[in-house]
Amino acid sequence: MNSPTEKILTIDEAANWAKELRRSGHTLAVTNGVFDLLHRGHVQYLMEAASQADALLVAINSDAAVKQLKGPERPIVCEQDRAFMLASLKCVSAVVIFDSTRATSVFQAIAPDVYVKGGDYTEETLDREEHAVLKAAGARFSFIPFIAGRSTTTVIKQIRDGASPQVLADRRIDPILSRRSIRRFQLRPVGQEQLKELLKAGMAAPSACAKDPWFFLTVTKPELLKAIAEKLPNGKFLAEAPACICIAGDLHKAHGGELSYMLQDCSAAAENILLAANLLGLGGCWLGVHPREERVKALQELFALPAHILPVCCLAIGWPAESPQPRTRYRDEAVRFL
Ligand SMILES: Cc1cc2nc3c(=O)[nH]c(=O)nc-3n(C[C@H](O)[C@H](O)[C@H](O)COP(=O)(O)O)c2cc1C
Repeated sequence: MNSPTEKILTIDEAANWAKELRRSGHTLAVTNGVFDLLHRGHVQYLMEAASQADALLVAINSDAAVKQLKGPERPIVCEQDRAFMLASLKCVSAVVIFDSTRATSVFQAIAPDVYVKGGDYTEETLDREEHAVLKAAGARFSFIPFIAGRSTTTVIKQIRDGASPQVLADRRIDPILSRRSIRRFQLRPVGQEQLKELLKAGMAAPSACAKDPWFFLTVTKPELLKAIAEKLPNGKFLAEAPACICIAGDLHKAHGGELSYMLQDCSAAAENILLAANLLGLGGCWLGVHPREERVKALQELFALPAHILPVCCLAIGWPAESPQPRTRYRDEAVRFL
């Protein structure tokens, strides 16, 4: 299926397509929702949903069902247009429109291998009827957290309230405001490509005289993650994280050979990595190492680092299993306009 319209199927057509798919040894993930006013949060969610199987089918509620679910003013975008836009996405293999508030009939017809839903649900809070049909079909459940601050309701509110310069400015720095420390992660691994993107972001940070004294120890081996966690009194959760980037700095390379420059350069790289993780839908948490001597020594030993290379911090990295709200801790008292 290539053109978007070819990807929009009736439930019967989708059932036949799913059968064919399975006959050729492929797996199918299914998710359902309204997907009104498609936004980045939707797309990132669908990309992650698609990564759970060989193909992704998105079932969307009909306009009549959306009115029942969300009120007479919704949907804003009609079902055919919602389906068309979803079908235009590379990560979406097929779309069906179902005329009900519940997707039970779709699940009965398709019997997905994986059922994907937003992280605001759990197996316990799913509709009981839908859950029973999915269980009977032997589907695996996967809950993907939504990207903080991205929702159709927020977009509608912003349009209704009128976008003041303040709102527009806040929206532009949202990728920064929505970076929060993530300490609980999904079991999904973080791929090499994603880690490399993070490292590229890290090494794009400012550095005094561009000396780049940093050194990134990127760890995904579970036994090594556990060993690092043991050395960090406030970082025990790292043992359950899929990845860690330990940032160390080389005193010999730092501007003027000075500790402070080295620490500032490594810290700038750490923040760039955490911001990039947030932009990619990943999450992370800074775990303090320097200046605690026992932690510095323990990690130097663990990574066999010479005395002039000092571990500065460790970043726990993974797919978030929690979604703290975006925020700033802005305080007027902390500012002086001169
Ligand atoms: C230098 C430094 C050391 C930190 N060490 C730890 C740590 O050892 N364990 C931890 O859970 N969080 C640690 N954090 C994360 C802070 O607790 C967190 O950034 C702070 O509470 C603000 O929350 P936010 O990141 O969600 O905005 C550290 C942060 C910094 C900058």
